[in-house]
Amino acid sequence: METRSIQIFDTTLRDGEQTPGVSLQTEEKVEIALALAKLNVDVIEAGFPVASPGDFEAVSQIAARVKGPIIAALARANEKDIETAYKAVRKAERPRIHTFIATSDIHLEHKLKLTREQLLERAEQAVRYAKDKVSDVEFSAEDASRSDWDFLCQVYERVIAAGANVINVPDTVGYTTPAEFGALITYIREHVPNIDQATISVHCHDDLGMAVANSLAAVAAGAGQVECTVNGLGERAGNAAMEELVMALNTRREYYHALTNINTRQIYRTSRLVSTLTGTAVPPNKAVVGDNAFAHESGIHQHGMLNNPLTYEIMSPESVGVSRSAIVLGKHSGRHAFEERLKYLGYELDADAINQLFVKFKDLADRKKMVFDKDIEALIVEKAAVRPE
Ligand code: KIV
Ligand code: ZN
Repeated sequence: METRSIQIFDTTLRDGEQTPGVSLQTEEKVEIALALAKLNVDVIEAGFPVASPGDFEAVSQIAARVKGPIIAALARANEKDIETAYKAVRKAERPRIHTFIATSDIHLEHKLKLTREQLLERAEQAVRYAKDKVSDVEFSAEDASRSDWDFLCQVYERVIAAGANVINVPDTVGYTTPAEFGALITYIREHVPNIDQATISVHCHDDLGMAVANSLAAVAAGAGQVECTVNGLGERAGNAAMEELVMALNTRREYYHALTNINTRQIYRTSRLVSTLTGTAVPPNKAVVGDNAFAHESGIHQHGMLNNPLTYEIMSPESVGVSRSAIVLGKHSGRHAFEERLKYLGYELDADAINQLFVKFKDLADRKKMVFDKDIEALIVEKAAVRPE
């Protein structure tokens, strides 16, 4: 089976900035956009220019200064938003206008106050208006996963005929499940007659903790672009996490038959940069980029790791830019890991001395959550048994 290339559309600077409490200055946004370009994302959604003068300025700066990826600007499906998005993004090497409107009955009735027929008109007009300005137009059907499937297919058919290059299927409220979302993508592929003229994109939120799983199910069903954010930042519970998606595709490439263009060795440093600039801590147990992602505490795991890392690691720390796995000494650690640590610190001890120190170490580990190198050295000094080589 042929390996497909999946486009990574990064929306850290737009949906990610919608994380409650996060607000970035223009220069910080440019710094993140430059890091995203090094990471080799395919598309950077730089912001929502009509939202504020600051957003407009940040998108304009990124469009002018960041080379490589497509630079996208978000716009609702109206002329003012699209005009403003165009003015902000037009200096980019490859500008994209991303226009959206909701398609679910609940949004049509309670937010937009439009009939389905009126919505079809609005969506088509918006795409035509954007396409007059740039050659690359993406259309999103907000709340697609709660929309009527046949109506959704009609919307996509109309906007593709109007010139949309990418049609996005957002799970705006994180409501769908992997099997259901995969089936929706298949349905769209089978029921939109002109679907071959556009790329299918997905955009999943994490309200039920399934954003990455739903995105992967969509890829398996034929989606060609995935929208995501660094560290899974985003509105409410956040968006699909870029690092998890990319490493899932990378690690399970023979299952998905799909790969991204991401330079995975840049993942860790990009994650840290975004965490620092947004002031949003990465939880220690976060997949791929958390402090514990490559840390091993139990004796059984440490023993396996020291013999062959493949026993307990499905990807190497180096592959995401982490220098090495960590053997964390704690009360579950075994003698083997303890002895390795002594050697690493420069102590060559005889078996008897190691045994005595190991008893003291276990005693200390029962009282302390983690035993650091300085604690081990203190035990050695206390015992005054030996000196480093
Ligand atoms: O979640 C959503 O539906 C969005 C759209 C603007 C794509 O962020
Ligand atoms: Zn979103």
